Amino acid sequence: MEKIQSLTGMMDLIENKANKADTANGIFYTEHILKDIFETYSISEIRTPALEDSSLFKRSVGDTSDIVNKELYSFMDKNDKSITLRPEGTASVIRSIIEKKIDNESNKFWYLGPMWRYERPQKGRYRQFSQAGVEILGYSEGIAELEIVSIICSINKALGIENSILKINHLGDKESKEKYCNALKNFLMPLSSKLDEKDIQRLNTNPLRVLDSKSSETQEILKDAPKINDFLTDQSLDLLNLVKNTFSEECNIKIDHTLVRGLDYYTGFVFEAVSSDLGAQDAYLGGGRYDDLCKQLGGKDLPAIGMAIGIERLSLLTKTYKKNRTLISFIIISSNLESKAYKIAHDLRSINSSIDIDVQLSDGSLKSKLRRANKDNASYAFIIGEDELKSENIIVKSLNDENSEQIIMNISEIENFIQNIK
Ligand code: HAM
Repeated sequence: MEKIQSLTGMMDLIENKANKADTANGIFYTEHILKDIFETYSISEIRTPALEDSSLFKRSVGDTSDIVNKELYSFMDKNDKSITLRPEGTASVIRSIIEKKIDNESNKFWYLGPMWRYERPQKGRYRQFSQAGVEILGYSEGIAELEIVSIICSINKALGIENSILKINHLGDKESKEKYCNALKNFLMPLSSKLDEKDIQRLNTNPLRVLDSKSSETQEILKDAPKINDFLTDQSLDLLNLVKNTFSEECNIKIDHTLVRGLDYYTGFVFEAVSSDLGAQDAYLGGGRYDDLCKQLGGKDLPAIGMAIGIERLSLLTKTYKKNRTLISFIIISSNLESKAYKIAHDLRSINSSIDIDVQLSDGSLKSKLRRANKDNASYAFIIGEDELKSENIIVKSLNDENSEQIIMNISEIENFIQNIK
């Protein structure tokens, strides 16, 4: 029969117990570290549904973005309502806090989950990918910018990422952004015959997005275009310098006035972390301030800043991959169903929460079970046969050291032994 395949750009992740640094293990490890970091910043978790009303993304991410224009997974449901698999998490978080009527409060949220964008798959670019995001709500420009960059520095440090640049820019306050957009439009309009269709459309709807053009001809023209830094207020320029100076010893921060983000909701400070180790899709996280979004979606006037991390890309950069848990392979050798032996394993688990006990459930010889224990990278094999069961002993074999003797321990010695495993 014909086999059913996974969809293009979507991958299965299967944990490898042998602790190998493969894609799945790297992703799971990275997620685990990120959750720990979010906890240390006292950020609360938020979970929103994967499916949302399609208009949410049109009204937030924006009609001029590639995400909304080309990449949405949108469907009609059985009630003829247009619904969309979320392409990002920010819009859903804001929708949720408005719905829960907490859009007048300060809050810090983190989330982690799959996102969907119908893009052309390549290394580091998938149609289903995972993002971990942080949204800091209710704080005007200033300290929240420092908090976000502090989190980024902590992530780089925890995962051993050294070859990276954090690009930062300011899109200006309302007035300077408007002035700059007009200047850019006035400069580009007479040259519009040299721009491609996409850039002409961007010029009319959101001129800042032309700066992000992939066309080499447009980029050549932009060399002589007005620059945003000439339009920024001292306050905006000071903020960029403050962020850079505060973290310059920990993070490689570069002020890049050409940085604009691909989503429409940004209003001030924006950033993107890139690494040349990633190839063409080099941005492993990005974000910025979006002070108008909450009001735009029908909520209160709530200042906000946030970021999202591409888990697959971040895990490609992870250097310190290591799982800090000890695995014990529990081997029962008996022709009967030994519930008593099984119960011993069950009770041992509650003694030390940092050890894992894998009871080998299959039939098979001691040799094949030891082979399996080694393959799984277990530190110890606990072997219990019919004789041991009668005498209430367990044979303990260290698998990390080939020359070590196996030791017979009684149950209370075993409990002590497990308690002392770090
Ligand atoms: P974004 O820049 O669209 O921002 O996505 C954030 C990160 O998600 C990117 O830097 C990249 O690492 C990853 N990513 C995006 N698309 C793909 C893909 N097709 N395959 C693999 N990874 C991908 C946002 O989504 C905003 N919501 C960030 C934000 C939060 N701004 C404020 N708050």
